[in-house]
Amino acid sequence: MSLLSVREALSGAGREGQEVTVRGWVRTRRDSKAGLSFVNLSDGSCFSPIQIVAPADLPNYESEVKRLTSGCGVIATGTLVPSQGQGQAFEMQASAIEVVGWVEDPETYPIQPKPHSLEFLREVAHLRPRTNLFGAVTRIRHCLSQAVHRFFHENGYYWISTPIITTSDAEGAGQMFRVSTLDLANLPRTDKGAVDFSRDFFGKETFLTVSGQLNVEAFCLSLSKVYTFGPTFRAENSHTTRHLAEFWMVEPEIAFADLVENANVAEAFLKYLFRAVLDERADDMAFIAERVQKDAISRLEAFIDAPFERIDYSDAVSLLQKSGHKFDFPVEWGLDLQTEHERWLTEQHVGRPVVVMNYPEHIKAFYMRLNDDGRTVAAMDVLAPGIGEIIGGSQREERLDVLDKRMAQFGLDPAHYGWYRDFRRYGTVPHAGFGLGFERLVVYVCGLSNIRDAIAYPRAPGSAEF
Ligand code: 4AD
Repeated sequence: MSLLSVREALSGAGREGQEVTVRGWVRTRRDSKAGLSFVNLSDGSCFSPIQIVAPADLPNYESEVKRLTSGCGVIATGTLVPSQGQGQAFEMQASAIEVVGWVEDPETYPIQPKPHSLEFLREVAHLRPRTNLFGAVTRIRHCLSQAVHRFFHENGYYWISTPIITTSDAEGAGQMFRVSTLDLANLPRTDKGAVDFSRDFFGKETFLTVSGQLNVEAFCLSLSKVYTFGPTFRAENSHTTRHLAEFWMVEPEIAFADLVENANVAEAFLKYLFRAVLDERADDMAFIAERVQKDAISRLEAFIDAPFERIDYSDAVSLLQKSGHKFDFPVEWGLDLQTEHERWLTEQHVGRPVVVMNYPEHIKAFYMRLNDDGRTVAAMDVLAPGIGEIIGGSQREERLDVLDKRMAQFGLDPAHYGWYRDFRRYGTVPHAGFGLGFERLVVYVCGLSNIRDAIAYPRAPGSAEF
């Protein structure tokens, strides 16, 4: 007798007529008038549950099988037979059903076999993996993260684990969570009354990282092509459907690359990820297309087929100004583009992904390379129809004198960034990279309307349950 996952059992895989065992959780139970029960059992290995046909002559049929409710943990043994029903190749004729875990008080069990609102499911984030939607999102997220590593591996990049605890604000935006073991009720003070972080665990003020970029640059300037993929943290007090306080970021860094090459890698990378999802998660994407977003599959296919448009920031501003469209936020050279502007560019104007390049220097981070015009930096944002910005990146400032001026302009203390300046002192070369917000990618692929549904345990202002 072999132990199979539901995915293996459903495929039959040459085991027709054989006795096998599957383990999982009951989705639904239906009793037929003919004196048998149909139990749908899922173990999450694929989208579909397997149908277990439980005959009345099972010794525990009346006492247990007929009491099974959604969520019960079960081990079922029986024969795999071709299914009469639609949609799956095989079902199981059970010879034994062992109930491993009952659901106490099925009436109040939060995950009932009926549609639930996403708002409600966020309140029971520890139980929502049991729903069809979160099973699908979880498998798609897994597929995407495997594809991230595969893309870089196949293209000669090395994966670098950058630190989560850091002393530097990579983006210079001051949206950092402090890490400290100091007693809040009794903070040590310096003579001047400031908090004395030299008495803290690391002997200095430390934070959760907002980006692994500065650390990964060190490896780029030796191993040429590298990337980091890990959690990042931002204490921005935004309650939007696009922001998390804890999110995962993929950040490649490429030596000797300029902004154009950077944009080319971003385009090839996104297309590779979408191809992987369509090839490997057809079952989950079919569900997403049926229940969440009708064109979920066709728009990924269109994305793969379409060459990305490249537009200079200055041209984008002119286009927006001449569009005749009434925007809520002003469009003016020197201001950052808002989501409504980005969506107009991708959805109304071009109809496919757009890379906006060369932004005004004062609205972008200190490490971005100053262009010859002296007023723009070699920065890029990749905008996707339906979501807006999904990738942000730049060519890095490799000239020490220019970097120092930019740091002074942003009020950053060069002494604090001594190690980062070293890369420009010892064998500096042009290099570029970008950051992909991993949850924004999952939102896009799964057609979700809120980023809090793209991660297992969302962290946002006022929300850190579970
Ligand atoms: O544009 P950002 O801030 O770029 C950086 O952090 C660079 N250091 C990346 C690099 O060049 N290596 O962030 C990059 C991406 C954004 O495009 C967005 O997709 C995502 O990270 N992102 C967020 N995702 C969820 N919640 C938030 N609060 C996010 N902030 C940024």
